[in-house]
Amino acid sequence: MELVIKKDAGEGALSAAAVLARLVSQKPECVLGLATGGTPVPVYRELVRRHQEEGLDFSRVTSFNLDEYLGLGPEHPQSYAAYMREHLFDKVPVRAAHLPDGLARDVPGFCAEYEDRIRRSGGIDLQLLGLGSDGHIGFNEPGSSLASRTRIKTLTERTRKDNARYFGSPGEVPKHVLTMGVGTIMDSRHCLLLAFGEKKAKAVAEAFEGPVSHMVPASALQWHPQLTVILDEAAASHLTRADYYRWVYDRKPDWQRWE
Ligand code: GLP
Repeated sequence: MELVIKKDAGEGALSAAAVLARLVSQKPECVLGLATGGTPVPVYRELVRRHQEEGLDFSRVTSFNLDEYLGLGPEHPQSYAAYMREHLFDKVPVRAAHLPDGLARDVPGFCAEYEDRIRRSGGIDLQLLGLGSDGHIGFNEPGSSLASRTRIKTLTERTRKDNARYFGSPGEVPKHVLTMGVGTIMDSRHCLLLAFGEKKAKAVAEAFEGPVSHMVPASALQWHPQLTVILDEAAASHLTRADYYRWVYDRKPDWQRWE
């Protein structure tokens, strides 16, 4: 595990964009796993800037999104499909962008087909992840099987409360979602998790310094062979070994740094 602590969310987002940009330049036909929520917004902003000002080319990239609200079609303003168009795809066209279908009629059939699509694309090279304040990744809530695949999940009250800011009230947040499973995420060749702000500090410490447990689904990433975690100081504030992580990162050669 590589743990990078940046001064603030702005710097953390620039580092995350650097991870993505390096892959896209080195492997233009790469497969990206993409995330939504507030955390990646500045990452996408920087990728748009790199595309428009520096010519970073995404035209051969394939992408798969982590999750979607069940019952929301791509035209619904709170759907993750709409989010992705607004923050990335309208400005940075990719070769093929896949998202779970919030209107799928045959949910198990769709989920199996989504897994199949990922496999047929050659698998995800880099999976971008946020972190729920309850330790979820994608929408894999506490108690999710750490071997799970894409499927329907029921949101916790806490997640519906966290996401109410986009909908108006917790009651308007859909109860069900489609999400890649923890096992699907673990199959990605490189996982990049971002967490910014004090609200995430407890989940960060539990996920990366606590025991592996399905009660903290992000803790499964401790088993991932290539995991990069980018935090700001606030999100790192409950880590007992923060000084060591800083010390290690400060001594890395340039080619191992994400700037
Ligand atoms: C949402 C998403 C997750 C996201 C997380 C954190 O519910 N499904 O993929 O990482 O919760 O969201 P935010 O970045 O807004 O804090």
